[in-house]
Amino acid sequence: MKRTKIKELLTSPKIGSEIIVKGWVRTKRGNKNIAFIALNDGSTINNIQIVVDAASFDENLLKDITTGSCISVKGKLVESQGQGQQVEVNASVIDLYGKSDADAYPLQKKGHSMEFLRENAHLRFRTNTFGAVFRIRHAMAFAIHKYFNEKGFFYLHTPIITGSDCEGAGEMFHVTTLDLKNIPRNEAGGVDFKTDFYGKETHLTVSGQLEGELGALALGEIYTFGPTFRAENSNTPRHLSEFWMIEPEMSFYDLDDNMDLAEEFVKYLIRYALENCREDLEFLNNMIDKGLLERLQFVLNNEFVRMTYTEAVSILTASPRKWEYPVGWGRDLQAEHERYLVEEHFKRPVILTDYPREIKAFYMKQNDDGRTVRAMDVLFPGIGEIIGGSQREENYDKLLGRIREMKMPEKDLWWYLDTRRFGSAPHSGFGLGFERLILFVTGMSNIRDVIPFPRTPKNAEF
Ligand code: 4AD
Ligand code: MG
Repeated sequence: MKRTKIKELLTSPKIGSEIIVKGWVRTKRGNKNIAFIALNDGSTINNIQIVVDAASFDENLLKDITTGSCISVKGKLVESQGQGQQVEVNASVIDLYGKSDADAYPLQKKGHSMEFLRENAHLRFRTNTFGAVFRIRHAMAFAIHKYFNEKGFFYLHTPIITGSDCEGAGEMFHVTTLDLKNIPRNEAGGVDFKTDFYGKETHLTVSGQLEGELGALALGEIYTFGPTFRAENSNTPRHLSEFWMIEPEMSFYDLDDNMDLAEEFVKYLIRYALENCREDLEFLNNMIDKGLLERLQFVLNNEFVRMTYTEAVSILTASPRKWEYPVGWGRDLQAEHERYLVEEHFKRPVILTDYPREIKAFYMKQNDDGRTVRAMDVLFPGIGEIIGGSQREENYDKLLGRIREMKMPEKDLWWYLDTRRFGSAPHSGFGLGFERLILFVTGMSNIRDVIPFPRTPKNAEF
């Protein structure tokens, strides 16, 4: 007989049937005659109650079933006699797969701090909170593919190891097989990468965009969804050095089309979560963030504000608020500014466009004013920037001019420039930070708690 998942037992219970359930013991209580085990197998936030008539089982076996142990139970599914659950299992056979040393198991008590659970990231999947977060994370990944597939976008796998710096910010991790104790030097005294694995300097990618553009300029509409890496020393609740990004790239889209897609896309994902992750969201709403469901619904029901960076700077300058970081045209906006606009001024998501070109990447389409580019940042409550994107510069000379002005390594970008020589086209795209989306959808407050094994400065455990 095959095991039935607890989710299935609870959603379509076949009362009176013989079943097998397998999972991890959350709690065991009772007396010397009868024991009640709350069993969870990860398929749902809900446990199934196992009722054990002590007289029918070996006393030592029952003693060894403790919080955290893993068991298989054969028994009959019956209507529950007690309160709190509809059905329960009357156990006839119990196999103990794995004992759990009761004194050493870290997840005994309820209400562990998030910090403690981070240190026990190998076991935190077994808590209600992290079970819910990672089921929702899965559902969002699935919904992303579903959304793009339904729209005719192609999933393009862009390289993780790359020779170019897409964002030009120099926040890259080296990839090398050189002997760090004996680094080969060139005549100028620098590192001789000719002898390195790829015969050139390589890094972990910060973004799949440049390669994504190559795909879009042939396949029409593509998206990437993969890990990206940034060696920025930001220790904040919103930065990881390894995070996942979704980057759609579309031929024949201008910035307005790009904004329409971004808004439709995130709303689709939020709606998908509300429709498909109800129990997990309700749990998080009760235990983690009382405003969660209301906020998700609110974002769905309201149009995002769209305005230029320049207008936003006027609002920020006019505000009586004392800023930690100064506001002024030409300066990048900080989280405090973004959150003020979204949470206090407009009280809904905001898309800012047309940023000063000095604070944006080289590939963005230049506006005729000579000062701004066709950039867009989507700002969300509690998060700040959740999406960054732009219309791309499709004009060869303008693009080359920008690459030279910004002292980008022109010779490494020959293939990118080629697309502007051979059948260039207006096109646009954006990047959605997957973990920032999950932060928003789960109501969790630290990005380290929405990715299974976070990578942050000085932390690469597990
Ligand atoms: O704004 P960013 O840097 O844009 C790009 O990388 C473009 N190439 C995207 C494109 O146009 N195809 O990053 C995009 C998004 C941000 O809005 C944010 O949500 C997320 O990626 N992000 C991070 N998430 C977690 N940790 C970090 N260190 C992040 N840096 C960016
Ligand atoms: Mg950005």
